[in-house]
Amino acid sequence: MSYAYDFDAIIDRKGTASIKWDEVDHIFGDQQLLPLWVADMDFQVPEEVTEALSKRIRHGIYGYTANSESYLSAVQQWMMKRHQWQIEKEWICQSPGIVTALNLIVDGFTTIGDKVVIQPPVYPPFPKAVKNQHRELVTNPLLYQNGVYTMDFTDLEKKFADPKVKLMILCSPHNPVGRVWKRVELETLADLAAKYDVLIVSDEIHGDLVFKEHQHIPFATLSEVAASRSIICTAPSKTFNLAGLQISNIIIPHPELRRKFKEQTQRFSLGEPNSLGTVAAEAAFKFGEHWLDQCLAYINGNADFVANYLQMHLPNLSMVPLEGTYLGWMDCRKLGWDKIELQRFFQKQAKLALNQGYTFGVEGEGFVRINLACSRQLLQKAMQRLRAELHV
Ligand SMILES: Cc1ncc(COP(=O)(O)O)c(C=O)c1O
Repeated sequence: MSYAYDFDAIIDRKGTASIKWDEVDHIFGDQQLLPLWVADMDFQVPEEVTEALSKRIRHGIYGYTANSESYLSAVQQWMMKRHQWQIEKEWICQSPGIVTALNLIVDGFTTIGDKVVIQPPVYPPFPKAVKNQHRELVTNPLLYQNGVYTMDFTDLEKKFADPKVKLMILCSPHNPVGRVWKRVELETLADLAAKYDVLIVSDEIHGDLVFKEHQHIPFATLSEVAASRSIICTAPSKTFNLAGLQISNIIIPHPELRRKFKEQTQRFSLGEPNSLGTVAAEAAFKFGEHWLDQCLAYINGNADFVANYLQMHLPNLSMVPLEGTYLGWMDCRKLGWDKIELQRFFQKQAKLALNQGYTFGVEGEGFVRINLACSRQLLQKAMQRLRAELHV
């Protein structure tokens, strides 16, 4: 049976200890702000996930849990179905989350004095994972020309040529700029990584969230060389709105890299899954495709709504085209305000809780990130607030 979902439904998340909704007051100092920040969805999960969890909960025992054969098969089949990626079950390693995995990887695969490359503006836990481990951060800023972000390969090659650069954390698709990297871009990156012996950690948490003609390409599918020199971080958390159940699948084709990663998870006792997380993820991978397709169509509609609204009513603001992720990247530079003025405007005047662009690196100054995985009604309210405060 397949269900028809109503993504317009308003579901009150307050009082569920939701960071996005219940921590607005604590973080922004004003509970009147509309929450369009933290990257989770305001949508209920596929019905089959709720049914599977309910059944598991009725059992009533939640002891230590392993990844069952059926769970591993579900991950394997999902990767084949959505990404034409044939993975082996043994390649799937566990981590409660991808940020945890990134920290474990920087710690385990580099040593003090090594350097790690990131491409800002980028998800803040990337630089944090490098700094937490006291490794040196090297930035290869994305280029932004004519409203399109691309990788700067000339600069990247210069950075990779430093023998101290051992690792790069790739964001694919990219949060916050919403790019879904094309094959040719990933191949150029893979060639440089092979030439200079740099391990690629590809964070593909948004890999299932792509729109229109765009296609996510798992880094390890590029070639055998790329597969043997990369760690692919995947999860059902963004795809199916399961972040609170803390489950991710770190897929590592190369046995030696896998052994090292597992050594790290064992060292910190992080390699066992959450017993409800595996149940939810298995049901989502097996039965959630129909939900996901409807969800993507709704989010795409939200992205179009915001882009069109800005174009029509707020010409000093514009959206960078969204190819993937549900995080819109709004260019506010025409307002001519510095980062503090911009932050004050969004928080104190428009009363919107967004992620300020500068938190993604200096390259993000003049931008804000808006979460589009919410009801259209919430976005309509947000746009009206902006229009009223910008007096246009
Ligand atoms: C690129 C990226 N990686 C990782 C995460 C968080 O992953 P986890 O909750 O599994 O640590 C996010 C969440 O927004 C993200 O955008």
